[in-house]
Amino acid sequence: MRLLHAELTDFRNIACASLDPSPRFTALVGNNGQGKTNALEALYLVAALRPLRSVSRRALLRTGTELAKIELKVERRSTGLVHDLGVELTPTRRTLFKDGKKVDAGTFIGCAVAVSFTPDDLQLAKGSPDLRRKFLDRALLNVRPSYLTRALRYTKALKDRNRVLGEPNSDPVLDAYDEIIAHEGAAIMAARVRYVSELLPRVRDYFERIATPAPRLDLAYGARLRDMAGAEEPDLEAAFLAKLRARRPVDRARRTTSVGPHLDDLELALDGLPVKERASQGQHRALVLALKLAEITHLAAALGEAPLLLLDDMSSELDAHRSAQLFEAVGALDGQVILTSTEVPTALAAADLALYRVKAGNLERGPAAPAPV
Ligand SMILES: Nc1ncnc2c1ncn2[C@@H]1O[C@H](COP(=O)(O)OP(=O)(O)OP(=O)(O)O)[C@@H](O)[C@H]1O
Ligand SMILES: [Mg+2]
Repeated sequence: MRLLHAELTDFRNIACASLDPSPRFTALVGNNGQGKTNALEALYLVAALRPLRSVSRRALLRTGTELAKIELKVERRSTGLVHDLGVELTPTRRTLFKDGKKVDAGTFIGCAVAVSFTPDDLQLAKGSPDLRRKFLDRALLNVRPSYLTRALRYTKALKDRNRVLGEPNSDPVLDAYDEIIAHEGAAIMAARVRYVSELLPRVRDYFERIATPAPRLDLAYGARLRDMAGAEEPDLEAAFLAKLRARRPVDRARRTTSVGPHLDDLELALDGLPVKERASQGQHRALVLALKLAEITHLAAALGEAPLLLLDDMSSELDAHRSAQLFEAVGALDGQVILTSTEVPTALAAADLALYRVKAGNLERGPAAPAPV
């Protein structure tokens, strides 16, 4: 996917900005707190329909304003089709536009495809399972946009079930929720299991190149329905439903649902031991980099074109060697990259680079190379 043009209005600290990115690298450069990540966040929101950082809707609107707009012109390189995509946010509503018409999320999602890589991702290998579930869900959403509908239905039914668990005489209602949860949940688990198996050879390959010497890396989808992780979807659904029914008395007492993909994990092991116990700092980072690169190349293969890459301040987080590995892998994809940094990147050829200076929410295009003296 190629981003041709972006207009941002009253999004975070950006009152009004437009961006005409290079087909290759665009750097948003500025001091801390100026709005670099905010600009990336706006682009990410259109692709993923969820914020890059988890914040309230209110925090996305510029303080004192009631309507934020993000408008993108994107081109799918695989088809040559150009679309105008718009997201409008008020404190209570989100409205989506495609080519000037209001559309629902199911139609909108997948029109822009972006992968982000931010300093928060560096916790991926050793942080809480929640981060790895998000990684899987965000990745799957890009590969298969229909995953969104499933995930939304699952989350809603789960929330409803949890609410009703504490109410007396609610068995018939719970029966209905359990069926939705089992149906959507089985599909989610099956999609995640398949995705992890597709990702594994790519992650191993990158990990072996980045971490030397590399211990043997294993990735597995860790389901609470442990024995069912390899099962086909209909069996998985039946097993999940049976488990939900069996766990109901316990779940009632705890007022929460104790089994399902909302509790599963992506299990990472080095030489047969959990990564958390076995990996050095450097190996953790190498693993995260390998996971993200695998996600990106898998997605590019699935789409038939590179996704838009949004790299937030990675050069300050990764050492020079790892940064170079990231740019080498990303460069080989021949896709479009938008990155933020406090310094003008020196590793990129000026001819490929569009440079924007970001100051107090303003984006100003500047010369990519310093003027000769
Ligand atoms: N809803 C909002 N309205 C107005 N300003 C906001 C809003 N949300 C965040 N900001 C401001 O945006 C700025 C932070 O922007 P951002 O996170 O993009 O900075 P950055 O340029 O990426 O900085 P760093 O280099 O530190 O990561 C802060 O000054 C913050 O107060
Ligand atoms: Mg930032």
